[in-house]
Amino acid sequence: MSLFATKPLHTILAEAEGGTLKRSLGAGQLVALGIGAIIGAGLFSLTGIAASQNAGPAVVISFVLAAIGCAFAGICYSEFAAMIPIAGSAYTYAYATMGEFIAWIIGWDLVLEYAIGAATVSVSWSAYVLSFFKDFGISFPARFAASPFEPVTLPGTTTVIQGIINLPALFIVAIVSLILIVGIQESARVNAFIVFLKVTVAVLFILLGWGYINNANYQPFIPPNTGEFGVFGWSGVIRAAGVVFFAFIGFDAVSTAAQEARKPQRDMPIGIIGSLAICTVLYVAFSHVLTGIVSYKELNVAAPVAVAIDKTSYSWMRPAIKFAIIMGYTSVILVMLLGQSRVFFSMSRDRLLPKVFSDVHPRFRTPWRSNLLFMLFTGVFAAFAPISALGEMTSIGTLFAFVLVCMGIIIMRRTHPDQPRPFKTPLVPLIPILGIAFNLLLMYGLGWTNWTRLIVWMVIGLIVYFSYSRKHSITHE
Ligand code: ALA
Repeated sequence: MSLFATKPLHTILAEAEGGTLKRSLGAGQLVALGIGAIIGAGLFSLTGIAASQNAGPAVVISFVLAAIGCAFAGICYSEFAAMIPIAGSAYTYAYATMGEFIAWIIGWDLVLEYAIGAATVSVSWSAYVLSFFKDFGISFPARFAASPFEPVTLPGTTTVIQGIINLPALFIVAIVSLILIVGIQESARVNAFIVFLKVTVAVLFILLGWGYINNANYQPFIPPNTGEFGVFGWSGVIRAAGVVFFAFIGFDAVSTAAQEARKPQRDMPIGIIGSLAICTVLYVAFSHVLTGIVSYKELNVAAPVAVAIDKTSYSWMRPAIKFAIIMGYTSVILVMLLGQSRVFFSMSRDRLLPKVFSDVHPRFRTPWRSNLLFMLFTGVFAAFAPISALGEMTSIGTLFAFVLVCMGIIIMRRTHPDQPRPFKTPLVPLIPILGIAFNLLLMYGLGWTNWTRLIVWMVIGLIVYFSYSRKHSITHE
């Protein structure tokens, strides 16, 4: 069988028909679902890191660049999600269009987006939880809340120590995995409440913070490059775009709800593009205010919002804001780990992965073994890796998936020209090509270290594919 054997579209659609998911979500709920999955550590942590390490106040431009890359990819996602409205993901789209091999590559790559993404958010979660407890006079040993590869400055001192393990991050990964095993009814109401909290925090921060902007903090707007690629200057702005791209990850989660949408054809594009548009406006305003209140030099901390609030007279709101952020993060981690288990579930059903990833618990009806394995995998990264490395790995992996999705649109137009397309990407192939170019630019900005990480991960994937998956796959029957 060829490496490029596809899974026929009619088979995929028929599998979807057999599903039991209820079509109950409208456009507004889909937008809320998107925002629920999108706003998280990217905004509340990485903005500060990207400003202090790469772009300075010009991190605002980085957000715009990242949003453009996402918009092109989002349009392409919308075409797929409306055409193949099932609880799939880029993996399923690729299997239908570009064949098993590319599908494998995307599925394997999505581990970086979902599992490593969840680890990234859990590290930021840990920082905000510690900072929240500190407001109540409860302290936690800093060494046990940091990666061994990360120097930590002891609060209120200039003493720098090395971390040992990030226990709170490990804790939240374990808790969320256990919740997933027991099975949650993803309640649209709980999600709506959490979205409300997150958006309120971001909007309040923008409105209240605006009056505290010190224009001196915007000088220089693009700090001069230090001589090293990605450390300030224009290369820094591009690198920061790759970093804050993380903040947009999650809009593709809307596509995973396609099977639960009332009118997927109309509402998928609204859900995906609507949530992206709202987040872009919020992010640009938020990063402008953050770098206006605090000098970018002081923002290399995992909880920059706390630093900024302290510069205003609203510091009494700190605990409430942190609490909302912590709640918001928890929902992002949940969506990511859920997405991860769903992708591996589909891959295991297609026999590209061992059956353990699609074993369903007799009582809970969840892929519990898969959840446990990912609890260990994600937990190791959460416990031992620094947030910047995790965030960048997530970004480069997701950008790569987006590039492949954009390519998929061009290929699909040739291979399935007559398939009904309720939503059509305009100006094909221009839009997908721009999507490919923009996302490659952001990948380029992330630098050689991250390319190496991506390549190593993909090589491991190729070894698994050629030694296991290809021999077991359904297309070999
Ligand atoms: N976009 C999500 C976040 O920023 C992954 O946490």
